[in-house]
Amino acid sequence: MNSPGAHTVIAIDGPAASGKSSVARELARRLGFAYVNSGAMYRALTWLVLERGISPEDPAAIERLANSAPISCRLRDHDSTIRIDGIDPEPFLREDRVNDNVSLVSSVPRVREILVAQLRRYAERHDLVMEGRDIGSVVFPGTPFKFYIDASPEIRSRRREAQGQRDRISARDQADSSRRASPLIIAADAHVIDSSNLTVDGVVGEIIGRLKRKGLTIPA
Ligand code: DC
Repeated sequence: MNSPGAHTVIAIDGPAASGKSSVARELARRLGFAYVNSGAMYRALTWLVLERGISPEDPAAIERLANSAPISCRLRDHDSTIRIDGIDPEPFLREDRVNDNVSLVSSVPRVREILVAQLRRYAERHDLVMEGRDIGSVVFPGTPFKFYIDASPEIRSRRREAQGQRDRISARDQADSSRRASPLIIAADAHVIDSSNLTVDGVVGEIIGRLKRKGLTIPA
C-alpha cells in the first residue's frame, strides 16, 4: 500500500553486525511479512566469483559473471532463498573468504543493478521486511518505513566473535560506506536506533511502536 508496487516494504539498513538480521527476521515474524536478507545475495555472487577463480579485484570479469550467472531468489516459508549456478549457496555464505571479499564484489555497479532489480521483484507479490545497506536509500526509496540500526564498533566486533566468525567488520564498513555505487548511508527519512544496549525484542518493540504511530496495522 505504501511502497512501490502494491505491497508494504519495511527497510532495515545498517553496518555489519549491527543486529539488523535478527531484528529484521523477528519483525517479519511478528508482522507476518516475508523476510529478505539482501546481503545474502551479494554474498552468493561473491562466493561464485571465488569458486570460478575470478579475482575479486577484476571488476570487468565480475561484471561478465554477473551478466551471465543464473541467480534466482524465491521465498520459502516467508524466508528468502537463493539459487546461483544451480546450487543453494547458503552453507558457504559466511566463509572467511566471502567475508573478506564481499565488499569489493558488491562495489561493482553492474552487480548492484542486477541484484537491485531482483530485490525489487519481491515487493511485487509480498509485504516485506528487507535488510541491507541501501534498501531505504536506493532499492525502495519510496517506502515511508525506513530504519537504520547501529551499534558501537566494540559491540559489533564482540557479536561477530560470539558467532565464531572472523570478519573484519571495520574494513567492510569503510568499504561499504565509501564506495561510489550506492554506499551505506543513513537515508534522510530513516529512524535511527542504536542497538548497543538493547535486546532484539527491545529494538523490534521500538520499530513496532513507530510503525503503529505511522498508521501501519500490526497483528495482535
Ligand atoms: O548484511 P551482510 O553483512 O551480510 O552484507 C554483506 C555485504 O554485502 C556487505 O558488506 C555489503 C554488501 N551489501 C550491499 O552492498 N548492499 C546491500 N543491500 C546488502 C549487502
